[in-house]
Amino acid sequence: MNSGFDSPLETWDARFAADEYIFGTAPNVFLASQRPRLAAGGRALCVADGEGRNSVWLARQGLAVTAFDIAPRGVAKARALAARSGVAVDFHVASVEDWPWTAEAFDVVAAIFVQFATPAVRERMFAGMLQTLKPGGLLLLQGYTPRQLEYRTGGPPRAEHLYTPELLRQAFAAHELVELREHDDVLDEGTQHAGISALIDCVVRKR
Ligand SMILES: C[S@@+](CC[C@H](N)C(=O)[O-])C[C@H]1O[C@@H](n2cnc3c(N)ncnc32)[C@H](O)[C@@H]1O
Repeated sequence: MNSGFDSPLETWDARFAADEYIFGTAPNVFLASQRPRLAAGGRALCVADGEGRNSVWLARQGLAVTAFDIAPRGVAKARALAARSGVAVDFHVASVEDWPWTAEAFDVVAAIFVQFATPAVRERMFAGMLQTLKPGGLLLLQGYTPRQLEYRTGGPPRAEHLYTPELLRQAFAAHELVELREHDDVLDEGTQHAGISALIDCVVRKR
């Protein structure tokens, strides 16, 4: 499969041309497990939100949600999911490289499987996510660890895009690491993330 690193917009738009929701319409399980930490009325940002399963779920919990993704077809499907679910989400088509990361604007940033980012892009993206959180706000991040290269059940086939505990500890050293959990679990997220997976969950509270 083309990993889509050279032309991410075209590659992801072609994947999202499928009629079905290729990551499903249920929220990511790690994100949903964070429900007790979410306060209704808070503002949330969903980074690279794809077809909207996570932004729509956050809106259904009573948060005011902004979401963006590079792929227009993904965002169109996300808008349709929100309409069907009876919630409003402020959707945008944008790349992490262009997103303004307005300072101290959000209570929650959700970054679920945003491992398209090269190490250089990741560094800027993580800095942007922290910048856009209010002090005390939460970053909710899930990704694959390098052992996922053996499972091959989803995610980019490039070790430098994957997360180790050390990488995340270092990236968020200036903040409170509320949760950092490496685990193997079966994912059932549409056709794209299916089967036993090497995962890492990370919750950071901005200082
Ligand atoms: C693995 S999917 C995850 C989608 C969504 N977060 C979810 O969990 O359902 C990765 C997403 O990143 C988006 N993407 C790829 N490169 C991007 C970039 N530079 N800026 C913003 N989004 C990007 C893709 O369009 C795709 O929707």
